[in-house]
Amino acid sequence: MITDTAIPRVETMPEQTYLTWLKNNFSVSTTTPDSYDLTSSGVMPPIALLVDQIRALGTEFKSYLETFAPWGEPLLLDSISQIYHYPADRIVITSGVSSALYLLSLALLKPGDECLVEQPGYEPFVLAPELVGARVIPLPRRPEADYAVDLEELERLITPRTRMILLSNLHNPGMTDLTDEQIRDLFQRARRRNPDVRLVIDEIFHDFIRDEQGTAAALDDGIVALNGLGKVYGMGAIHVGWMLASPDLVARIRQLQEIVEGQGSTHVTEVLAGLVLQHHADYDAHWRRLLIPNHRIAEAFLTPLVDSGVLSGRVSEHGTVIFPKVNGAADADAVDRLVRDLAERQKVFVTAGRYFYGPLHIRIGIGGDSQRLEAGLVRLTDGLRAFANAAQSR
Ligand SMILES: Cc1ncc(COP(=O)(O)O)c(C=O)c1O
Repeated sequence: MITDTAIPRVETMPEQTYLTWLKNNFSVSTTTPDSYDLTSSGVMPPIALLVDQIRALGTEFKSYLETFAPWGEPLLLDSISQIYHYPADRIVITSGVSSALYLLSLALLKPGDECLVEQPGYEPFVLAPELVGARVIPLPRRPEADYAVDLEELERLITPRTRMILLSNLHNPGMTDLTDEQIRDLFQRARRRNPDVRLVIDEIFHDFIRDEQGTAAALDDGIVALNGLGKVYGMGAIHVGWMLASPDLVARIRQLQEIVEGQGSTHVTEVLAGLVLQHHADYDAHWRRLLIPNHRIAEAFLTPLVDSGVLSGRVSEHGTVIFPKVNGAADADAVDRLVRDLAERQKVFVTAGRYFYGPLHIRIGIGGDSQRLEAGLVRLTDGLRAFANAAQSR
């Protein structure tokens, strides 16, 4: 007999998740004339690049699509293997990082297990472990410490029930990095407290520093890395992700994947993803062209607002978002009102920090077209100053 308690429930599932909010917001922002949507954390999609690459393949593209590749399209697997210096037989292709996160939660966690999750952070990091009945223990990454992990705090939070630690590198939304040294140290300390812990690092923003630092999965078999095309490559439209893991975990994930995803990502999207990675240098040039000026634009926006006390925070050296604290906001509801006002009056769309467990912050995407970003930030400045003046006179 199936009883109610036999079915794990997400007790804490919010009424509106971040991704539901984002989709609803997108419907509004794209139908609002003369608006600026600064909610995305990806770089502007370089669609023309992909179209050119498909054209250049000619009839070869057709033959890729005609071939069945049960363990992942070799064009994609080989590209991942070469770029990240990681063996192809330890790579699982998934339908985005999201599905990899869920598969990992299924593989590593059972009801009652504990999972340490960075906060602020990406909401599915919490919801995926909870979906399988695990208990999420927040691991603070504080803005005032540049979102570093406090190692002593980490050790204190690990118990005999801890099975997984979930971090992002670069951190979303802080966009700061963890070095290989820090990751090794963190993992060793965690393992000393509990030898069964696995460290999962979401590297979807990591390709911004790929040339300086390899994947964390190469550091130890107990470390799993996740990645995908939606951020650095700007190719969320190809919803492909990948997991780099030890052989035992790869085998387990493949079994679970058959149930959750059938054959995994569709072969068509794997071929497209393979093309992107084969030409990754072109995509790197694209984000550099955008982000070098955009970081300057973001600095020029943020500095005067920080100097005048309206916001706190800084522009990280890398990445596609900034996450300043709104000093005049007393609580998450005030930030919600601000975000709604900005959309209605200034026609600028940003994300309320509550969706990233930073309730007094807003997240501003800086990976778009430079001229439009600059214009959007001018309007955002007006809206933020009006909010600060109103807060002061209350
Ligand atoms: C840290 C992080 N991981 C994963 C994702 C989503 O990945 P995917 O679109 O590949 O499922 C996001 C999207 O915002 C993210 O911020």
